[in-house]
Amino acid sequence: MSNEKRLAGEAAIRYVEDGAIVGVGTGSTVAYFIDALAQIKHRVHGAVSSSEQSTAQLKKHGIPVLDLNATGPLSLYVDGADECDPHKRLIKGGGAALTREKIIAEASAQFVCIIDASKRVDLLGRFPLPIEVIPMARSLVGREIVKRGGQPVWRDGVVTDNGNWVIDVHGWQITDPVALEAELNQVPGIVTVGLFARRPADVVLVGDREM
Ligand code: A5P
Repeated sequence: MSNEKRLAGEAAIRYVEDGAIVGVGTGSTVAYFIDALAQIKHRVHGAVSSSEQSTAQLKKHGIPVLDLNATGPLSLYVDGADECDPHKRLIKGGGAALTREKIIAEASAQFVCIIDASKRVDLLGRFPLPIEVIPMARSLVGREIVKRGGQPVWRDGVVTDNGNWVIDVHGWQITDPVALEAELNQVPGIVTVGLFARRPADVVLVGDREM
């Protein structure tokens, strides 16, 4: 699978335009993209990063890391996913970076998602759905999930880059991801739902092939 991840990371380079500020996601597939980006770093202005992990790798390569508040809208965001359905709707957050990832995806004109074939599903939900929560709301959010038929599991010991916690929801077959994302966004204490359905990917690269 890591060969497919590498191919996907490298293939995403063709979407990078000269002088661009590139939105950069998080994960092992994105790590290949960052390594490839380093090869053409003289052609880009810099990057906006979705995690401390990606920031460290970008800086190691000497790629300037910029503040989204200063850059304004971006032309391109490149990120991986944990699951991807035929409509390019995603589950993300396996690496706990979902909140910053969703912010950058929203700010970007084009979202190129890079995955290996194991991430493709017909129905989202086999991968437990990550939800970032304010710590004091963990139990409340857990009860709201149980009411909706899910099994919440606290990702014990994990603190996000924003100082919050993550709950992984098992047992949901997500037939209407847009509706579920909207509904969960209404629960107080939920910071971000790892469903990227209202704003799906625009392009999905499975290895070096476009889906
Ligand atoms: C990070 O929080 C996630 O959304 C990642 O994008 C996702 O887990 C993909 O990771 P890999 O590329 O390591 O499979």
